[in-house]
Amino acid sequence: MSTISVKLESEQEYNVTIGTDLLPKCGEIISSVHAPCRVALITDFTVGAIYTNTVADSLKKEGFEVFIFAFYAGEASKNMENYGKILEFLADNEITRSDIIVALGGGVVGDLSGFAAATYMRGIPYVQIPTTTIAMVDSSIGGKTSIDLEAGKNLCGAFWQPIAVICSVDTLSTLEKRYFDDGVAEIIKYGMLGNEKILRILNDCIATQSNSYHALKPFLEEIVEESINTKISFVESDVHDNGRRQFLNLGHTIGHAVEHASRYAFSHGQAVAIGMCAIARAGEATGITEVGTAKYLEQLAQGVGLPISTIISVDDLYNSALSDKKRRGKEISLIVPVKIGKCEITKVSIEELKHILDLGVK
Ligand code: GLY
Repeated sequence: MSTISVKLESEQEYNVTIGTDLLPKCGEIISSVHAPCRVALITDFTVGAIYTNTVADSLKKEGFEVFIFAFYAGEASKNMENYGKILEFLADNEITRSDIIVALGGGVVGDLSGFAAATYMRGIPYVQIPTTTIAMVDSSIGGKTSIDLEAGKNLCGAFWQPIAVICSVDTLSTLEKRYFDDGVAEIIKYGMLGNEKILRILNDCIATQSNSYHALKPFLEEIVEESINTKISFVESDVHDNGRRQFLNLGHTIGHAVEHASRYAFSHGQAVAIGMCAIARAGEATGITEVGTAKYLEQLAQGVGLPISTIISVDDLYNSALSDKKRRGKEISLIVPVKIGKCEITKVSIEELKHILDLGVK
């Protein structure tokens, strides 16, 4: 087991605990940062069926009173309706500002519960217990909370930091392979942003095994810890995403366009993998990116079962990219790999983005 202390600029410090079989101990971990109180345990039906009892029992053993709210799993649930239902649930169960929310599940549960925590009574404490790869290495860290609007993903949200994050890597064993692989795209991203250890582990694993979960199983705690440390290094001095945190968007501008234009047939991680490969190809074509970087990324992504290209037309991707919330006026900040392990931020006009899509998407 390991603990990372997260100290973000102007925010309360909190710990991320990483280990195996932590769910039966989550009551103990949470009671070390918050006195026993009422807990709204929010989850989805899929994760809830497997882990709710263990988490609830552990909390009750430490003197917490537990109230459970569950909704259908999937991105479609991260909406205004469930957000409203959660707020009413909190009020009906007399949750106050001295109580807490515990989010048990993947990114949808974490984002939705976090946004409810950020806004209910103008903000109450919450704990993240991520149970998917993507939630462990990305969405549970850094305090971005949100719901989706009809117009797009994550368009309504707030920055609100948890008081603790508990990553029990054994929960990844019950994930469908495609959901496990989804998070590996974000792990590759941390490698491309400079974490050499991650790239070494991924390359060694690909060389020996084709199933990414089985290959990475012996390294899960290490790779989750490395990923979180890398993410924190980009967030700590830029919590509100105006500068350095934007590096975490590597592959995401084209990735979000792929998700949107495919009507979410491509998952987030799949789309990010396509986005990273596309921007590396475009970077090579324009002379910004060292030749060979795109090939390296393609091999890595394919080696863990992720796609590297799409047949969606450039026009459709371009139209989808225009609705991206990262666009500021007529400019978009793109993260472009300079070489393996080094990226840079480049501001491009929306017209230039069309050209980049032409060069990178195949
Ligand atoms: N997922 C990117 C970020 O948290 O900034």
